[in-house]
Amino acid sequence: MYDIQSITNNILIGEYSFSDHAIIGERNDRIDPKAIDRVSLDGKVKKEYPEIKKDNILEYRLVTDEDINTLFKWVNDPLVRKNSFYNKKRIKYDEHKMWFRSRMKSGDCVIYIFLINSEPIGQVRFDKAAEFKSEINISVDSSFRDKGLSSVMINIASSKYRTISQAKTMIVAHIKLSNMKSLRAFQKAGFIMTKTCIFKNQQCYELIFN
Ligand SMILES: CC(C)(COP(=O)(O)OP(=O)(O)OC[C@H]1O[C@@H](n2cnc3c(N)ncnc32)[C@H](O)[C@@H]1OP(=O)(O)O)[C@@H](O)C(=O)NCCC(=O)NCCS
Repeated sequence: MYDIQSITNNILIGEYSFSDHAIIGERNDRIDPKAIDRVSLDGKVKKEYPEIKKDNILEYRLVTDEDINTLFKWVNDPLVRKNSFYNKKRIKYDEHKMWFRSRMKSGDCVIYIFLINSEPIGQVRFDKAAEFKSEINISVDSSFRDKGLSSVMINIASSKYRTISQAKTMIVAHIKLSNMKSLRAFQKAGFIMTKTCIFKNQQCYELIFN
């Protein structure tokens, strides 16, 4: 069962309300990690897009080994590389494979894959950075960008992550000063800007999930 208390934290942003996630399927990650949750997009994206309109449902699930190639495609998207704090260069497949396996083994990383009509459209990842502190990262497939999906994904994933992590865990986002779109998406999703700081030698905004 979902921890409804942590999901319904009633974040009202503009004309959108995240107070009601309209959760259709319920599951407990600890029981069935392959289960898919479904969320109605009604009222959560501004415009109607044919890809979304079909059934207006956003699905999400935990990552599986089969997502390795999709994640490889996304990590080498030019905008993802540009906005990365780590390495601007193209990631080699072997490097990606090692990274994916070690993150999955570590138990310190949770990745939610979002889908529309069964097609993966993006990911939200949480990396444990310290005790009670996790870093969030998002990418949306280039063909599903600019549809207002990112703030919905961030809010859903963060609310969900909160239900499966330790109670005091703080979810932190670091966003480059140039990445205004990401800043807007995180704020709309309920993240509060705390400061500008240096992260991985680069100036950025730091935001915390409210
Ligand atoms: C960042 C990212 C996830 C955003 O997703 P997206 O689908 O492109 O963006 P959305 O359509 O959800 O729009 C997000 C918001 O930014 C706004 N926006 C768009 N361009 C903007 C700009 N130049 N300045 C400020 N806000 C902007 C949008 O209008 C929208 O706000 P609204 O819903 O109030 O209108 C996506 O571009 C991506 O995957 N980028 C590469 C990886 C990345 O940068 N990740 C973030 C690392 S911190």
